[in-house]
Amino acid sequence: MERKINNDHVKIIGGATKGIRGEILTFYDNPFHTNPEKCYLHYSDGLIIIQDGIIIDVGEYNKIHQLYSEISDIEHYTDSLIMPGFIDCHIHYVQSPIIGSYGDTLLEWLEQYTFPMETRYSDKNFADKVAKIFFRQILEQGTTTANVFATTFETSVDAFFEESEKYNTRMICGKVLQDQNLPDPLKDISAEESVTLSEKLLKRWHKKGRQLYAVIPRFVPTSSKEQLQMAGQLYQKYKNEGVYLHTHLNESEEEIAWVKRLFPNSINYTSVYDSFGMIDNNSILAHCCLMKEEEWELMHKSDSSVAHCPSSNLFLGDGIFKYWEATRSDRAVKTGIATDVGGGTNFSILRQLNEVYKTAMLNKKNIDALKCFYMATRGGAEALNLEDKIGSIAPGYEADLAVIDLKASDFIEWRLTFTSSLFEKLFVIISLGLDNMNKATYIAGEKVFDRFRTPKFIYPKT
Ligand code: GUN
Ligand code: ZN
Repeated sequence: MERKINNDHVKIIGGATKGIRGEILTFYDNPFHTNPEKCYLHYSDGLIIIQDGIIIDVGEYNKIHQLYSEISDIEHYTDSLIMPGFIDCHIHYVQSPIIGSYGDTLLEWLEQYTFPMETRYSDKNFADKVAKIFFRQILEQGTTTANVFATTFETSVDAFFEESEKYNTRMICGKVLQDQNLPDPLKDISAEESVTLSEKLLKRWHKKGRQLYAVIPRFVPTSSKEQLQMAGQLYQKYKNEGVYLHTHLNESEEEIAWVKRLFPNSINYTSVYDSFGMIDNNSILAHCCLMKEEEWELMHKSDSSVAHCPSSNLFLGDGIFKYWEATRSDRAVKTGIATDVGGGTNFSILRQLNEVYKTAMLNKKNIDALKCFYMATRGGAEALNLEDKIGSIAPGYEADLAVIDLKASDFIEWRLTFTSSLFEKLFVIISLGLDNMNKATYIAGEKVFDRFRTPKFIYPKT
């Protein structure tokens, strides 16, 4: 059998090969820095060929089908737009049960809703149940990779990765390190114990199948200096093996003031993390709403990434992320999109794009649909340094796909008849903000979610 992973169309013989046909959109370059029209491929009638979970070919149906005419297993999606699965760069699966809780800004919301809920995850049964619900929610929305906070307990990490293994999803998760300024049941026993446990979980899960591990200090106020020091060392020890550092940064005024009181001699919040070895090219910083110029420069120089969480920022009244500052071409910072559930109010990356546009407009900056969809797919993969594996539909990439339903409602079907370009169509998809736009989700070539199938969710055969 021959498998050729490049752009030449080479016939393969034998093997469990399948095709997915329909309108296809994928990005291969960054529209913030190059002509947006030259950053994507669009096939109005395309065909993706998948073998053993990997895309081996893609192109116009007429051309590709001739090369693989022996393949009978072709799923044909009409009135649909097939895209790479969406990438959620920051989300708390453990907060699924408190999504949409009324009435507070970040620090009060943490005290009132988040911390009490997170204490419950020492119970493995509870963690298992929430993990199961969480995966269904994100897969239903077409999210195929997420960068996820668990919480203090080993059980919370195991429950998450066990469920991820069942779907064979490429996920990033880790234990949250937190040893102060929290309710006692949620606190780590000691800095040393927390880092020992993180390393144990890292060894258990990192690169087990498609799973990846992150070292996760929650944010500066909930870690002692000793814990920040040891967590930074743990990250430095494993970062060359692809382990991540994932945390929150510059989300709200009160949070920043608290960090200032804790570290009065630091020039800014980012430099606190930096002083503990936490800011470099596998670091993902969620929010970054209230950044000083020198903090963007530090992130740019270190090649770290930001997760933009618009619905959460609006819901918690944090502040407004300034995409035009993050993506400034002279010192660009890799930028992905995130729901930040339970601060965010839904699991849909498409609906985050709706909020991306509106938060930008509050500053009289519009952002076009191509840039939005890039950030939701390839941009997210770049932010997670996974752009050679996920986020594009191209030979050699893992076949994680979302199938957008262009007839998700009678109204959207009708509304789309008044669009005359791909660009307009994409913008309407974002702007209507429907929650049933995704009709099918593929993980490594297997259809794990289908809105019109019974059952909707299936664990793929492994
Ligand atoms: N900062 C520290 N913890 C959290 C959290 O759980 N959610 C959000 N949005 N911000 C945080
Ligand atoms: Zn968060």
